[in-house]
Amino acid sequence: MTNYKLLLLPGDGIGPEVMAEVEKVIGFLGQAGIAAFETEHDLVGGCAIDAHGVALTDAALARADAADAVLLGAVGGPKWAEVAYEIRPESGLLRLRKDLGLFANLRPAICYPALADASALKRELVEGLDIMIVRELTGGVYFGEPKEITTLPDGSKRAVDTQVYTTGEIERIAHVAFDLARKRSGRVASAEKHNVMKSGVLWKEVVTRVHQADYADMALEHVLADNCAMQLVRRPKQYDVLVTDNLFGDVLSDVAAMLTGSLGMLPSASLGAVDAKGSRKALYEPVHGSAPDIAGRDLANPLAMIGSLAMALRYSFGLGEAADLLDGAITDALANGARTRDIAAEGTQALGTAGMGDAVVAALKARIA
Ligand code: IPM
Ligand code: MG
Repeated sequence: MTNYKLLLLPGDGIGPEVMAEVEKVIGFLGQAGIAAFETEHDLVGGCAIDAHGVALTDAALARADAADAVLLGAVGGPKWAEVAYEIRPESGLLRLRKDLGLFANLRPAICYPALADASALKRELVEGLDIMIVRELTGGVYFGEPKEITTLPDGSKRAVDTQVYTTGEIERIAHVAFDLARKRSGRVASAEKHNVMKSGVLWKEVVTRVHQADYADMALEHVLADNCAMQLVRRPKQYDVLVTDNLFGDVLSDVAAMLTGSLGMLPSASLGAVDAKGSRKALYEPVHGSAPDIAGRDLANPLAMIGSLAMALRYSFGLGEAADLLDGAITDALANGARTRDIAAEGTQALGTAGMGDAVVAALKARIA
C-alpha cells in the first residue's frame, strides 16, 4: 500500500471537531488495509493568528506544498473580527488557494434519498439531485487589483474591488467543467452576467469557443447568474455541471447546499493543474464555515468533512473504489437513520459529531464485512 502524505489543517470553530471524525475514518481505512496515510497537522486561520500573528505561516504553506493533499476544516470567527484585513483568518485559506494554484473548485451537491425531506424544497424537486458546481477559485474579484478603500478630498471614502479574468483562466476552468461533464450527462451550464459585466462577456465568449473547439458533441447552455440562482431553487435538477466564476460560485454553491438538506453535507475539492508527472496540488474542505455558534458542543455535522476525504481518495489518489466505499458508507449511515441536529426531523433524537463519525465507521465495517 502506498503511504500518502496528508496535511491536516483543522482551523477554527467546528473545524477541529469535524477533522477528528475524518481522523477516525483515516484510522479505519489504514487498519482495514484500504488506504494508508501519513498525517501531519498545522494551523490555519484564527488559531494561526493567535499562535504566530499570521493566518498561515510560510512553513505551513511549504508543508501544504509538499503534501500529497491537504484537508482543511474551517477558518474564522467573531474572536478575530477586529484583526487587520490583511491578516484576517480567511487570508490563510485564500493564500493556500492562490499560492498552490488551486484554480478548480469542485462542489458536488447531492441530495441523499434519506435526506430529501430535510431540504428547504419539496421532496420531488430535490430527490435524486446530483449537481457538480465548478467554481473558478484563484481569479475574479477575490484577487483582482486594485482592492482598496481610499479617502476622497471631501473626507468620504471610496471602496474598490476588481473583477478580472483572462482568456487562459476561463479556458482552463471550462476544460475542467467539460471534462467532468463528459463522464456524467454531457451537459454544462455556464453562469455569468454578460449583460452588465465585461468579464461576463469574455467568460461567455471563451466558454463558447472551448465548447466548439473540443466538446461540440456536448450540450452547453449559458445562463445569467441571477437567473441561475432562481432556477436552482425553482427546478434544480435541470442542471448537471455548472461552471462559474469565483464570486458567483461562492454564492451559488451555498444555495445548492441548502437544496441537499444542510450546508453540513457539502464537500469540496480545490485542484491545481496536472503537472508533468500526472499529479496535481489539491486541497479538500467542507463548503460550510467555522459555525462558531455551535463550536465545541458536539453538534456539528462531520459528513461534509468526511465527504471531502472521499473526494481526496478519488481525485488525488486514484482510489475510486475506496471513495465509492466511503461515499456508500455515508449513504448507509443516513439510510440507517443517523442524523446530526442540522438534518434531523423536528422532535427526533439526533447524534453528536462524534456519534455521526462512529456511524460512518460502523457503516464502513458493515460494507467490507
Ligand atoms: C467558501 C467560503 C470562503 C470563500 C471564505 C471562508 C473565504 O465562503 O469556501 O465558500 O468565500 O471562498
Ligand atoms: Mg462560501
